[in-house]
Amino acid sequence: MAQKLAAGNWKMNGTSASLAEIDAMLAAYPSPNCGILICPPATLLERMSRRIGDGPIATGAQDCHAAASGAHTGDTSAGMIKDAGGAYVIVGHSERRTDHGETDAIVRAKAEAAVGAGLVAIVCVGETETQRDEGVTLDVIGTQLAGSIPDNVTGVTLVVAYEPVWAIGTGRIPTIDQIVEVHDFIRARLVERFGGDVGTTVSLLYGGSVKPSNAAEIFAVGNVDGALVGGASLKAADFGAIIDALQDA
Ligand code: 13P
Repeated sequence: MAQKLAAGNWKMNGTSASLAEIDAMLAAYPSPNCGILICPPATLLERMSRRIGDGPIATGAQDCHAAASGAHTGDTSAGMIKDAGGAYVIVGHSERRTDHGETDAIVRAKAEAAVGAGLVAIVCVGETETQRDEGVTLDVIGTQLAGSIPDNVTGVTLVVAYEPVWAIGTGRIPTIDQIVEVHDFIRARLVERFGGDVGTTVSLLYGGSVKPSNAAEIFAVGNVDGALVGGASLKAADFGAIIDALQDA
């Protein structure tokens, strides 16, 4: 069974004052029946991790470099994320693929480094609106999965997030049938490549305009094990409603 996971990606949002949201989440969820993860901006990762301590919320980063150290100004290695208290790192988010020209090969190298350093890699895949209109969604996802996921993963060190690019920050989500189709496809590809033991235990997250109002219907989909949430993860009240929906699913 894959672990249920409610993951928040704060993107480039949050300063010291935002740490109060973590206090509220810790108070509301002393012993959740699902995983809870927040990936704050790099500037808050260590402070947030320390604040949580042994608490039931994990922290992670939004990107890492593929190298362990060296002359890479502005970058952060997977080992540094672990040292700062992070347990997860998101790699290949569509905003990184677009803003920083990250290819599948780059994403794969980052994910490999992350797992090598003892982190869980959350590998993101997703089609653009044009690709969906052209009917090539599954081809695109298949290529991204094959190219972005390294060989060194296990069922607990890999998470895959399906984030249709056109659903991110837009308030639009795919139909439930479309989510079923893509998540079943991802599950089948993972089982094909890594075998049933690994393939069935990788958590598959849906991401893109997940809100308190649509979370329950998305979590009712068989191969949806949770969500990667952007805007609605910034406030404890909204994210809490999504966590509630996942706990009830
Ligand atoms: P929104 O939830 O703001 O649409 O963002 C989704 C996302 O990109 C999470 O990684």
